[in-house]
Amino acid sequence: MDVIGAELGADVREWEVLLNLKAIIKRLAWLAAQVPPLRAAVIAYFELRPYRAGEAGWNREHPYDRAHGVRTSGAVPGFLLKPGAPLDAATTPYVPAQPSIIRAALAAIPEPQHSHFLDIGCGKGRPLLIATEFGFASITGVELSPTLARIARRNAAAFLRANPQRTRIDVVTGDALAHKLPEQQLVVFLYHPFVRPLMAQFLANIEACLRASRLDLYIVYYNPVWADAFDSRANLERRYAAQFPYDAGEIGYGPDESYAVVVWQNRGNPPPKPPGIATAPVIIVSTGIRAELPREGDVNRTQQAAHQQAHRRQPYWQMTGYSAALPKACAKDRLLTFVSDTVPSVRSMSP
Ligand SMILES: C[S@@+](CC[C@H](N)C(=O)[O-])C[C@H]1O[C@@H](n2cnc3c(N)ncnc32)[C@H](O)[C@@H]1O
Repeated sequence: MDVIGAELGADVREWEVLLNLKAIIKRLAWLAAQVPPLRAAVIAYFELRPYRAGEAGWNREHPYDRAHGVRTSGAVPGFLLKPGAPLDAATTPYVPAQPSIIRAALAAIPEPQHSHFLDIGCGKGRPLLIATEFGFASITGVELSPTLARIARRNAAAFLRANPQRTRIDVVTGDALAHKLPEQQLVVFLYHPFVRPLMAQFLANIEACLRASRLDLYIVYYNPVWADAFDSRANLERRYAAQFPYDAGEIGYGPDESYAVVVWQNRGNPPPKPPGIATAPVIIVSTGIRAELPREGDVNRTQQAAHQQAHRRQPYWQMTGYSAALPKACAKDRLLTFVSDTVPSVRSMSP
């Protein structure tokens, strides 16, 4: 018994040492990113990471990129995306959405040919490229990080050179909270761009816009971790909600195998709602990190989610000891600021 106990103890210590080493490396990367010349090297490392052998999940070059000659793969931690105060403490990391899930979500939108598609926090631009498959009238991405916006523009240019018949893509560098919403039929795509207080501010902007104009609005929220904020708005109603599985060929290019998507539309919006489970409860598996919806035919799902809620995992930075490098406001909001495929629990990482 003692021998087994000692062996187990040794295993645990070895694991802890490894975790601490990773935390130290991440801390060093954070420190390097504070020094301008080193910062460029850290950014280059994250830009090139998906093209090294042996990477996994978001950090692996996605088949979509290979097929289209673009570079949307590779997570970028929030601390590298510092746009300047006051948003530094609230910057979310870049992780790309799965093409199959974006497609399944956009299929719930009526008449895309009459709509403007707007990705709030477009990162390297993957949803913008996928949106061109749906014939939207116009497509814009807003991105806070100048580095990511530059990559998104480069991707859009490469994609449109190969597909000149597709809709033009505009990428705006700046804070999406200050971006004026166009007064036309609008599809807003959100994949975890904001911590909760900023999402509330964004919703207030949307409401002001709805009061000022007779806009037809759809909000597509991928991994809707702040779904309750949308559900509580009197002028929004659910149009669609589903837990979409990845296409088989995409498994292994993200930490999960499915994602929840909820679509809201403004009340009184004429196009009829499609049949489906639009009113399904959004289950928060990990606060601010991952939301799920009940899967059809999975009778134990709600029970399982209740169990996960009750035994909620620690936030990522507490598991890795990375919190020392985080600004206080981030830790308070449980903002995921560093993404890596080396975390023991993949589920708790999903932004
Ligand atoms: C999870 S990524 C999603 C990227 C992209 N929409 C996708 O689905 O592939 C969230 C993005 O939001 C951006 N972001 C965060 N706060 C923002 C803000 N205030 N204005 C514009 N972009 C923001 C981040 O830099 C990051 O690229």
